[in-house]
Amino acid sequence: MKFIVCETYEEMSKIGADMFTEVIKNDPKCIIGLATGSTPVGMYSELIKRNQAGEISFKDVTSYNLDEYYHLSGDHPQSYRYFMNQNLFDHIDIDKAHTFVPDGFAEDPNAYGKEYDAQIQAAGGIDIQVLGLGVNGHIAFNEPAEELCASTHLTDLTESTIKANSRFFESEDEVPKKALTMGLGSIMHSKKIIVLANGVAKHEVIKKLLGDEITTSCPATLLKCHRDVTVICDKAAYNG
Ligand code: F6R
Repeated sequence: MKFIVCETYEEMSKIGADMFTEVIKNDPKCIIGLATGSTPVGMYSELIKRNQAGEISFKDVTSYNLDEYYHLSGDHPQSYRYFMNQNLFDHIDIDKAHTFVPDGFAEDPNAYGKEYDAQIQAAGGIDIQVLGLGVNGHIAFNEPAEELCASTHLTDLTESTIKANSRFFESEDEVPKKALTMGLGSIMHSKKIIVLANGVAKHEVIKKLLGDEITTSCPATLLKCHRDVTVICDKAAYNG
């Protein structure tokens, strides 16, 4: 696991965008893995700028998102499909038919999840995946637990995640209690992973990533088993 410590959120976002740009330039038909949340928004803005300046094209790129709230439809303003349209897809030349976000209304979410993973593998696998970090160490919605799932699956959100995500909703009661999420296996199959983290709230998790321990009580620590992970964080997340 490699660490890049930045002065600012903007610098972190630019370095993340540089890594995506390199992969897209090397293979214009690449598969990218995307996350929602506050952290990658700056990187997405940077990618939008580069696309609009003609520096990179998403015309032949396919994307897969990590997760979606259970039973929120794509036109719900807090759904992750809506977020992705607003923060990236509506502003770049990607073909929306080639953008995939797990279906929060899948009838049999676990069977659906296995198909989602199979579809990614059949497409050649994710070339570059961006991840944010939950303050409790979750990645995607793989929450701290005694056991974790390998495949894309339906999961309960923890109190801590519901609280953290309530900032996007009118009240905590409105935050869905379940989500479909890629599993640890799905994430670990990505060829390259970048983890973005900014702000002091992420320091405890960054500290665990800097140490040697791997534990399902901090799912992000499992990333230490992957051979190509770059953590790009700001000083506040790194130093506390
Ligand atoms: C989002 C996701 C989550 C977030 C994490 C950090 O698709 O999978 O794991 O990356 O909760 O969220 P922010 O960036 O809002 O701090």
